[in-house]
Amino acid sequence: MTIELNSPCKVNLLLNILGRRADGFHELETVIQPLPLHDGLRFQRGGSGIALTCSEPALPVDGSNLVHRAASAFREAARVRDGVRIRLDKRLPMAAGLGGGSANAAVTLLGLNQLFGHPLSGVQLNDLAATLGSDVPFFLQRGPALGTGRGERIQPLEPFESLRGCAVLLVRPRFGISTPWAYGQLAEHPESLKGRPGRATDLIQRLRSGGLSATGSAFFNSFEAPVFHKYPVLAVLKEALLEHGAAAALMSGSGSTTFALAGSLASAESLREMVLARLGATNWTAIAVL
Ligand code: C5P
Repeated sequence: MTIELNSPCKVNLLLNILGRRADGFHELETVIQPLPLHDGLRFQRGGSGIALTCSEPALPVDGSNLVHRAASAFREAARVRDGVRIRLDKRLPMAAGLGGGSANAAVTLLGLNQLFGHPLSGVQLNDLAATLGSDVPFFLQRGPALGTGRGERIQPLEPFESLRGCAVLLVRPRFGISTPWAYGQLAEHPESLKGRPGRATDLIQRLRSGGLSATGSAFFNSFEAPVFHKYPVLAVLKEALLEHGAAAALMSGSGSTTFALAGSLASAESLREMVLARLGATNWTAIAVL
């Protein structure tokens, strides 16, 4: 039996850091929107242990790969002795703030659970996912969600009426950003460490009740100040997107991808042309229609 699954990505419509915790993680509230842009994952039984292959030569396929770690955690928790063969077709950029690697880990848990006849319950999968990374539990489900705690406590939300039919332009510059590095920068930007609680509820209410014009300033990311300090080109990009008519523009997660919300595919296409003309064609871009 072969199981093939899509592994999606996300943008954070809001990421509000509330403070640093005693365990070194940061307490936060985040509103996460999944996007229909995918890596591919294929699972088969066979061989011994975990044999992972990947289309992207730069990505290690050993125990440092999140897919490998997820498969290993699954086999141990489900007491599976049979070997597994996993193929990862990497199409999404890495170190991008899009959660691609976290989604790969979550989809590996779901794929292997299916392959071995569902030995683990939803709660067990969720617990395993949280040990693999703060963003992993979100990808066990498919819709938008509110994330709290260190981001791993997921409350599914109805799709947002205001975003229906919107086009999301993603721009990932030539450089990536490491999440631990971005969290490390917060210490030097104390104002970014102590976000006002309640911003998430505010954005969710606006996204439910009105058109996009009512929401603009409610999109917020605590990482923008420290990351823009080091990479001013990201601030320039955001400003350019807003000046050229984006309904909202925000860095996703800890960067480096910035996304723009546009009312239609045509407006997103013209924003993309503007970005490529200004910043150069080596940036990775994509458009997803919600
Ligand atoms: O959970 P995840 O493995 O994605 O976290 C990577 C790193 O990011 C952690 O080791 C921690 O330094 C930082 N982090 C944090 N607070 C969070 C999530 C991640 O400080 N809420």
